[in-house]
Amino acid sequence: MAYNLLKGKRGIITGALDANSIAWKVAEKVSEEGASIVLTNAPIAMRFGDINKLAEKTKSQVIPADATDVDDLTNLFNKSQEILGGKIDFVLHSIGMSVNIRKNIPYVESNYDYFMKGIDVSAMSLHKMLSVAMKLDAMNEWGSVVALTYMAAQRTFPFYTDMADIKAMLESITRSFGYHYGKQKKVRVNTISQSPTKTTAGTGIKGFEDFFNYADALSPLGNASADACADYCVTLFSDLTKMVTMQNLYHDGGYSFTGVSSEIMQKFQS
Ligand code: NAI
Repeated sequence: MAYNLLKGKRGIITGALDANSIAWKVAEKVSEEGASIVLTNAPIAMRFGDINKLAEKTKSQVIPADATDVDDLTNLFNKSQEILGGKIDFVLHSIGMSVNIRKNIPYVESNYDYFMKGIDVSAMSLHKMLSVAMKLDAMNEWGSVVALTYMAAQRTFPFYTDMADIKAMLESITRSFGYHYGKQKKVRVNTISQSPTKTTAGTGIKGFEDFFNYADALSPLGNASADACADYCVTLFSDLTKMVTMQNLYHDGGYSFTGVSSEIMQKFQS
């Protein structure tokens, strides 16, 4: 059921690779809620992803942009304003990639070139996006930027390797830039800390399936789905959450504040 919460708003959605992507669900939901959007992804992802199907479904255009490239991002914000006919109201940053994870390299043996690449793609890209948007004055007042993160930024999850540190940086940029953008243009910047979700990036993590089941058994509400995450994004892009900024918001069925659940206790019964 749609509520027209984003009627007349213009947005940019990054990171929709295939129908499992969290960004895919967000693109669908924000369209249902009345927003017009531009989709973007890395030029290389265009070749093996399904983004054009999503563009057709949401009646949107696709602008390729490598999120590490300031010129690409400048083009993205300029063209999006042209296509959508005005300044941007919301941006979803849904970009994550660690070469160390992809290559199964243990955290203590991290390759530093890969580490730097992960930082650039998954954290610094948010800074670059916000900086470009600010320089171009591309966002409307009370605009909203949401980036997706994971709780490994606060607590250790050994399999998450360098992405834990990278997500900590992403959340820090959210606070730091959120201050400046709030002061300058009342633009709000938040992260959503999402449950494990079965996507290309998620399932690429070693032992993901086991951990997914563990998190589901620990959380009183179970794991939050990509669809539920998209609903949460809609609220943060809407005018109903105008005073929320610089926050890391847990969207995890209660996982982050649960010590143990009865299901897990049962496994250790003597
Ligand atoms: P996904 O694999 O569908 O999305 C990741 C996206 O990042 C892809 O579309 C990919 O093409 C894009 N990307 C990679 N390098 C890029 C670059 N240089 N420029 C532009 N785009 C680039 O996976 P998912 O899970 O939807 O990931 C979205 C976000 O959600 C990521 O930040 C991820 O860390 C975060 N997240 C995912 C969780 C999960 O369990 N799946 C849990 C918590 C957070």
